[in-house]
Amino acid sequence: RRAWLYKYRGFVFPNLFLDKIRNIHTFDVREDDVWVITFPKSGTTWVQEIVYLLMNDLDTEKALKLNIDIRFPYFEFVEPGLQAIAEMPSPRLIKSHLPFSILPNQMKNKRPKIIYIVRNPKDIVVSYYSFAIKFLKMVPFNGSFEDYCQLFVSDKVDYGPWWKHVSEAWNRRDDDNVLFLVYEDLHLDTGKHVREIANFLGKPVSDEQVDMIVKHCSFESMKQNNSVNYEWMKDAGIANKEVQFMRQGKVGDWKNHLSTEIVRQLDDMVTTKLPPDLSEQIKDS
Ligand code: PPS
Repeated sequence: RRAWLYKYRGFVFPNLFLDKIRNIHTFDVREDDVWVITFPKSGTTWVQEIVYLLMNDLDTEKALKLNIDIRFPYFEFVEPGLQAIAEMPSPRLIKSHLPFSILPNQMKNKRPKIIYIVRNPKDIVVSYYSFAIKFLKMVPFNGSFEDYCQLFVSDKVDYGPWWKHVSEAWNRRDDDNVLFLVYEDLHLDTGKHVREIANFLGKPVSDEQVDMIVKHCSFESMKQNNSVNYEWMKDAGIANKEVQFMRQGKVGDWKNHLSTEIVRQLDDMVTTKLPPDLSEQIKDS
């Protein structure tokens, strides 16, 4: 049933990424690239939109007009593909779900700016199921939500194990080209983190500009914004009309979905598989 997933260097990937793994390793990185890297469903799109505005003089008009996949392509995905990304003008903005250990070799010496976001795994599993199984049409999975949760806790979903992905990034958090963010903290005080991201990118912002970014990037506005809400996937026939990519955007919605057994196993994962100082960062309510 899961034959389209393969293991590479301790991580699980859909097989379509594996044929380009050599090209991923040898990809030319630039010092002025900005990479947003996450385990899926951790707040990628939210941070991408914040970064885009900061890097483009807060050009909301352009942000509303052009799809995020064009402005901020998904590195290892089929569209636009590595070749097209290699030809983009600087400074490139690149999204990836690859763990640190499977990024291009040149990341180490070119040291582009990397923003990594972590989110609590209970909300991730709910969000991931809704996206991968209900929103996308192409994933051949016939199991129940509980079955999907079981796959997640047994490290068998794409880009997993989650704990390994986040631990690798955590170990690099003190590198001066890495900014490590927590989705739940972004919720608590978005403005503070917009300022932090701006400082990291070397793009100072006024209070007024911070407010403008916070407003443009609120869940409610991003849900209505067709350049970031992935509605285009429905028009392209690859996503189901009745499901939303911008689902809830909340902290703690897992309480409405997860069984006590899955909660126990995920709590266990957080306390036993993560370094203790990272476990403390995981906030699920
Ligand atoms: S992906 O497919 O991996 O790139 O998805 P990703 O963007 O990482 O995660 C999608 C979840 O993030 C929520 N989201 C937001 N939350 C708060 N504020 C804003 N602006 C925002 N934008 C996206 C989105 O709703 C998904 O979470 P769930 O819990 O499913 O709602």
